[in-house]
Amino acid sequence: MARYLVTSALPYANGPLHLGHLAGVYLPGDIYTRFLRMRGEDVLYICGTDEHGVAITIAAERQGISPRDMVDEYHDVIRKDFEDFGISFDNFSRTTLPEHYELAQGVFLDLMEKGYITEKSEKQLYCDNCDRFLPDRYIEGSCPKCGAENARGDQCESCGSWLEALELKEARCSICGGSPRPRPTTHWYLKLDMFQEWLEGWLSRREGWRENVLNYCRGWLADGLRERAITRDLDWGVPVPLEEAEGKVLYVWFENLLGYVSSTAEYFEKKDDPIGWKRYWKDDRTRLIHFIGKDNIVFHAINFPCMLHALEDYVLTWNVPANEFLNFAGLKQSTSRGTAVWMRDYLRHFPPDPLRYALTINAPEHRDTDFTWDEFRVRNNELADVLGNFANRTLRFAKQRFEGRVPVASDPGSKETELLQKARRTANEMARLMESFRIKAACGKAMDLAREGNRYFDRARPWKTVKTDADRCGTSIHYCLQLLDSLRMAFSPFVPFTCDRLGEMLGRSSLDWKDIGELNLEEGDALGEPVILFQKLQEGFETNIYEQPEPEEEQKEMISIDQFNEIDLRVGLITDVQEVEGSDNLYRMSVDLGKESRQVVAGLRPYIPKEGLLDKKVVVVCNLEPVKLRGVVSEGMILASDGEGGIVLIEAGPDAVPGDKIR
Ligand code: MF3
Ligand code: ZN
Repeated sequence: MARYLVTSALPYANGPLHLGHLAGVYLPGDIYTRFLRMRGEDVLYICGTDEHGVAITIAAERQGISPRDMVDEYHDVIRKDFEDFGISFDNFSRTTLPEHYELAQGVFLDLMEKGYITEKSEKQLYCDNCDRFLPDRYIEGSCPKCGAENARGDQCESCGSWLEALELKEARCSICGGSPRPRPTTHWYLKLDMFQEWLEGWLSRREGWRENVLNYCRGWLADGLRERAITRDLDWGVPVPLEEAEGKVLYVWFENLLGYVSSTAEYFEKKDDPIGWKRYWKDDRTRLIHFIGKDNIVFHAINFPCMLHALEDYVLTWNVPANEFLNFAGLKQSTSRGTAVWMRDYLRHFPPDPLRYALTINAPEHRDTDFTWDEFRVRNNELADVLGNFANRTLRFAKQRFEGRVPVASDPGSKETELLQKARRTANEMARLMESFRIKAACGKAMDLAREGNRYFDRARPWKTVKTDADRCGTSIHYCLQLLDSLRMAFSPFVPFTCDRLGEMLGRSSLDWKDIGELNLEEGDALGEPVILFQKLQEGFETNIYEQPEPEEEQKEMISIDQFNEIDLRVGLITDVQEVEGSDNLYRMSVDLGKESRQVVAGLRPYIPKEGLLDKKVVVVCNLEPVKLRGVVSEGMILASDGEGGIVLIEAGPDAVPGDKIR
């Protein structure tokens, strides 16, 4: 049996993710993996945040915070976004973990020993004004390949080229705008030229790769692979493990790819199986698949295979289903947000599934696509009208006429056999499409099957036969329910939250691809309460999203000192922190107030990890009326600041004693 190791590109922890990331990299990876799991395959889905490199340091400098604080913050933000969209990673790691450093440094030394890395003193761009070398994104200029004006020192996002800063035209320092000059410095270079011949042969034998990916690689090979610097003069990154390389770090695109390996190792570490990762990375039968955006092709289809090949005992890449971009043309955007819709902003208004569907059915598999709110509305309503409607009419009928049970199918005929045959055929077609990464087309097939369901229902006319032919009616509804269960499974990689709810209504939760089109429900099985699966949207609904005024900073009224004194503020020591079950954001804490201990419930989970609360001395409002949150009583409130700095706990100084008054 094959083993699948599926990865989605590690996002930089320098800001929140937008719908483009979701559409091109994370949804396809998630859908593909969910499908494999349903087929009972041995599969691991690996990701994490990419926390080094100039993408991080520049963003941190702009926000006036340390790189460390920034990656800590965005690791959590990004992880939560993925969770709430149902992106089902088996492990979500970080490249700042010590284990990752160790691995990356080990690989560097290994490749050096094998003769693939060489040390050279060469010129790099230096800014006299800023008094520093300018690696990667610290340089901007125009791309020598495509002429785009906003190319960075190492990469042009317009054409996806991997550049050397010295090749840029009209290079300028992206911090001060000044003109840098070349100055010699020592760096270590990966001798990619040594792989030219091997890579040509290997790539020519790839099967089932997307044409855009292969073309891209052919272009690179035609230009000839060259030595590339894989170290940088920076103080944020994985240190180069050589004494003479003091102050230098590994280039982010040398070490981040290895993040896939260290994330896998972390997964097995947590399972107390420290060598488990080797079963995936050091076994030829593993199918290593990278879901990425087109700007990452060179690293995943050229660089990483060369590195893996050089390491000798690693598996090689099986496929790189790279997607094009999802654009936002025709979208009204607020200026502060550039041209993106953030995943989190979407979730403030809508559930995840309609977007999962809309982005999948318009996935940028072969060309850039446009996302518009109008298209989103159409796709949302399609879900409601087709899948939602079929579920609703079937389940309501069963509830009203058959006491909420699966009716007896006493009279199945050719229509019924055909219906399930169609479902089985759909499952096979979808599987073939999924296997060749045509996820958009597979999704379309699921929707076609739901349409079949409605067509069958319309023709069977149970609302008529219920009066004239009870057996027929029961049979029709029986088969509608069976098909609905098949739809639950066929749709589940795409709209998993909806399918869970559908499962509750059908009393089924198992997800097995080969059950699609089979008779999985038994006559007499009890059904759950039918609920509406999708809310339809009206034209122009999006004005609500944009026209909600930003909450104004409230001007509070003056109060007297007496009024202030009515608030009983005390120092509390947090002695225990637990998650509140059934809630995503609540903690239940025990707070020592000197003479007594109280239970406080607060919605801090998305913002502060447990360790950030435990044993902290905090400010507690002690005379607030108790409230129940998710059924748990809260007997006080803990103060935190909320603003530009995010949600930050207010701590009392080290000498403060629990129970002390705050005035
Ligand atoms: N952080 C990179 C980007 O957003 C992707 C890194 S993928 C990895 O473009 F494999 F190299 F980590
Ligand atoms: Zn370019």
